[in-house]
Amino acid sequence: MRVIIDTDPGIDDSVALALAVRSPEIDIAAITTTYGNAPVADTTRNAREVLARLGAEARIPVYPGADRPLLRSLEVALDTHGVHGIGYVAPTLPHDELLTVDAPQVILRLAAASQQPLTLVALGPLTNLALALALDRPLLREQVAEIVLMGGEPNGYGNITPVSEFNIWCDPEAAEMVLHSGIPIRMVGLNVTRRMVCPSAAVAALAQDSRPELKWWGDMLRFYEEFHRRREGLAGCILNDPLAIALAFAPELGTAAPMHVDVMRDDGLTRGQTVCDRHGFLDEPPNARVYLDVHSADVLHMINTRVWEGAVSADALLHGMST
Ligand code: RIB
Ligand code: CA
Repeated sequence: MRVIIDTDPGIDDSVALALAVRSPEIDIAAITTTYGNAPVADTTRNAREVLARLGAEARIPVYPGADRPLLRSLEVALDTHGVHGIGYVAPTLPHDELLTVDAPQVILRLAAASQQPLTLVALGPLTNLALALALDRPLLREQVAEIVLMGGEPNGYGNITPVSEFNIWCDPEAAEMVLHSGIPIRMVGLNVTRRMVCPSAAVAALAQDSRPELKWWGDMLRFYEEFHRRREGLAGCILNDPLAIALAFAPELGTAAPMHVDVMRDDGLTRGQTVCDRHGFLDEPPNARVYLDVHSADVLHMINTRVWEGAVSADALLHGMST
């Protein structure tokens, strides 16, 4: 499966990128970055930081993208991901402030040149995809097989407002353009990513591991776990984005239903809410397949095996029991 991953690393994005790099089922044509969890200068550096740790920086290009939403002001989530966007990990690569917005044109160029259908996996706000659609929607409809996006929430249980999920909330106008692009979409929302809890015991095991490459993940996840404990009283942290990567190449790891999805684009309480018409009340054709159930234990096991070298015991990983 040939993919472009659009991402805002970000701690869960970093785990997602590592899973993608370590998954032979995926051929990564490029990584494009966006603002979101952190400003785009940080998310771009962080994507390169993860690739360098995995020894993949020479073969996978990273292209910077949007530094803010189409119309709205920039909002980032440093409280969730840390001042550099990667938790307690100190960046080693330079921080380039003078970035151009290459991502939309790169998406079009790679789509045009692709000899096989391309999948766009979106793990952050959808501004880059919306800009690419604005430049040449017919080309993308022709060349992009599907968009798999981590975003939204079908039941109105949000994480940035009572009803909205962060990626969609950041740029509702971009999300609306993607949802009405005519390209097949699979939506991986908070309703299923909330089952992707990496328990505190697993974070502690990584943070205490004597191998530097595993302690690096532990230092990243410790910050994220402390945020979830403070914000939601959770004894762990939620790995949203890796679920979208796993479902992209292994759709059988979940169950999705076709439905019409629209986005609230007001400035009030419902900004960015994804309204998912599960029973066809609106008499509108489905424009997305929304995941309703996932095999989260299988995906957590896959991450442990492929990204963390199996360092976390099954008990710590699935039951949170420290061993
Ligand atoms: O709401 C969760 C999403 O927002 C994840 O993609 C996370 O990385 C943030 O971008
Ligand atoms: Ca993300």
